[in-house]
Amino acid sequence: MSPGAGPVSRRASEGAPGDPAPTAPPSRPRRATRPSEVVRPLELSPILGASARMQRLLRLVARIAPTDSAVLILGESGTGKELVARSLHVLSKRAGHPFVPVNMAALPESLVESELFGSARGAFTGAASDRAGLVEEADGGTLFLDEIGDMPLPLQAKLLRVLENHEVRRVGENLARRVDVRVLAATHRDLLALVAEGRFREDLYYRLNVIQLEIPPLRERREDIGLLASYFLERAAHRVGRGALRFSPDAVALLERYDYPGNVRELENAIEHAASLAERDVLTPQDLPPAIRSPRLLPRGGSAGSEGATLVPASAAASRALAEAQSRRDERTLEQVTREHVLRVLDRHQDNAAAAARQLGISRTTLWRMLKRWGVPRAGGRG
Ligand SMILES: Nc1ncnc2c1ncn2[C@@H]1O[C@H](COP(=O)(O)OP(=O)(O)OP(=O)(O)O)[C@@H](O)[C@H]1O
Ligand SMILES: [Mg+2]
Repeated sequence: MSPGAGPVSRRASEGAPGDPAPTAPPSRPRRATRPSEVVRPLELSPILGASARMQRLLRLVARIAPTDSAVLILGESGTGKELVARSLHVLSKRAGHPFVPVNMAALPESLVESELFGSARGAFTGAASDRAGLVEEADGGTLFLDEIGDMPLPLQAKLLRVLENHEVRRVGENLARRVDVRVLAATHRDLLALVAEGRFREDLYYRLNVIQLEIPPLRERREDIGLLASYFLERAAHRVGRGALRFSPDAVALLERYDYPGNVRELENAIEHAASLAERDVLTPQDLPPAIRSPRLLPRGGSAGSEGATLVPASAAASRALAEAQSRRDERTLEQVTREHVLRVLDRHQDNAAAAARQLGISRTTLWRMLKRWGVPRAGGRG
């Protein structure tokens, strides 16, 4: 990809591997956006990221975009899953064809089938004419299945057939129509857990999960906050017709400390809000939304909401401790993760090995072998 071309920003994609691009010091505002740099409606926003994890992700996006592989995009709400999906499309050879996003969580179950696959006239009450579905509309381009974890099971089977045979049948019609679509899917859910619970088809999971992209939550890449905040501020200032706006140092400190459960979208909204309400050119803590302004309260020594927990301000040290705990979790081996999961499931089934094995999708013998390997006594000998 040529630098500066496409949706992956120059800032985000240049630099040596593992060498994060410098983040603009948040307290020093960058120059106000020139009109030519403003994001136009049809133009894709850049994916900004200075953290090593985002740099890695951006390199991966650039590398896999031109392939025709299915990509599963994972990440919490507001982390940029749709932005990544659009970027994959724009950087692919399908860019001249449609990008069709479908949100499975937003479509009523009764409509999903005909919306996706189309319908023949008279297929059901109200189907007054033949209608192509979204899969057909994406022909030649990219179909983005958002919130794929919410897709009803019977339709998963139908989708799988479309992906395997490259043909679609409208509801109420026998004719198979050829379609050529690249499928990108996204979810904030744990799809493997849904597979284990029998709520998501395993074969479809593997179809969609040819390449997996995981977008880290914003609190795990705080280096990106300053860069994103400056960018959103410039854009918002332009939108509301203000000159250069900037943050005061204590506003920056608050922005960098907050946990962002709503991730990048929450940061973006906070800054839009601040830019439109600010009376002066320097934004202070008073201009920020209450959630960011007042330090969040975290329970001490217990999970959020646990009774009797002492509330302490979420200090930078607390956030660091959380990040370190997460990073320790990320360093666990597959065997450790498996062991923890198996023991948790066994616990949930009160040591009933048969029930636990059933939920884990393994045989009882396999479970016993695992427990023996880990030196766990065969609890109660039940099951
Ligand atoms: N790295 C980034 N650089 C610039 N803007 C970003 C970045 N990540 C997200 N955004 C912006 O944040 C907003 C939310 O992103 P997006 O809609 O892609 O998230 P999402 O993961 O699909 O969220 P949801 O799960 O809620 O649907 C968008 O306006 C997007 O442009
Ligand atoms: Mg989305």
